[in-house]
Amino acid sequence: FVVEPIQDALLQWYSTVRDSRGMPWRKVYDPNLSAEARSQRAYEVWISEIMLQQTQVATVIPYYNSWMERFPTLSHLAESSIEDVNGLWKGLGYYSRASRLLAGAQKAVKENGGRLPDNAKDMEASIPGIGRYSAGAICSIAYGERVPVLDGNVHRLLSRMLALHAPPKTKPTLDILWSAAAAMVRGSSGIYIFDRMPWTRPLFPATDDDLNGKHPGDINQALIELGSTVCKVRDPSCDICPLRPWCLAQLRKAENFQAVVDIE
Ligand code: ADE
Repeated sequence: FVVEPIQDALLQWYSTVRDSRGMPWRKVYDPNLSAEARSQRAYEVWISEIMLQQTQVATVIPYYNSWMERFPTLSHLAESSIEDVNGLWKGLGYYSRASRLLAGAQKAVKENGGRLPDNAKDMEASIPGIGRYSAGAICSIAYGERVPVLDGNVHRLLSRMLALHAPPKTKPTLDILWSAAAAMVRGSSGIYIFDRMPWTRPLFPATDDDLNGKHPGDINQALIELGSTVCKVRDPSCDICPLRPWCLAQLRKAENFQAVVDIE
């Protein structure tokens, strides 16, 4: 694949759905924020991503708003108690998510001067409850870092796009899909070949100039939302999918679409 036209199609589609469900954690990315304001954006996106892990968007919105009223910043959260946090979480389920948020905030205050780490690698390494997916989502959205996301929805979408016949969620499959997800934000379609030929120049270098400033947070949120609302487990809405021209499952529909579509 040449990734650039896929990014364009994703971003064009995202611009039509971005504001339609009134998600309060979605704000226009501003590359010129102070370090303090960037950390605050990361805090907001962190809370939203953890709430969205096992819960639908419509359910999360009112919980997110109450949370931000009660714990407007990382320091407010760090100074609260587990009883406070659990009280606000009541009804969302999976309470371990709430206790990890509190522990993460306390750790950031104690060890990192009251800020979340400013990059995905450190965030994943140091904050409890933040794995590769959450670190990718938070840092791409809040910091504009070109790091990928792969949740269940993006896993299914990319498996179908690549017509990948492989056991879902196993190490080799995840390696391929994380690489594909990285190519989506880095614009590096030469990723497999060129990684093994270091004397060559990558076809699509990962600089913001080459990528025309395409915001990685928007690309990632487009993939997540497309996976959950269009490329659904059952009955995917292929007729309205912006990635249809590149979808190998769609292209091979006559032979084996069903087999590919069954991959979750
Ligand atoms: N699910 C997980 N993260 C999301 C996001 N940023 N927007 C919409 N749905 C999501």
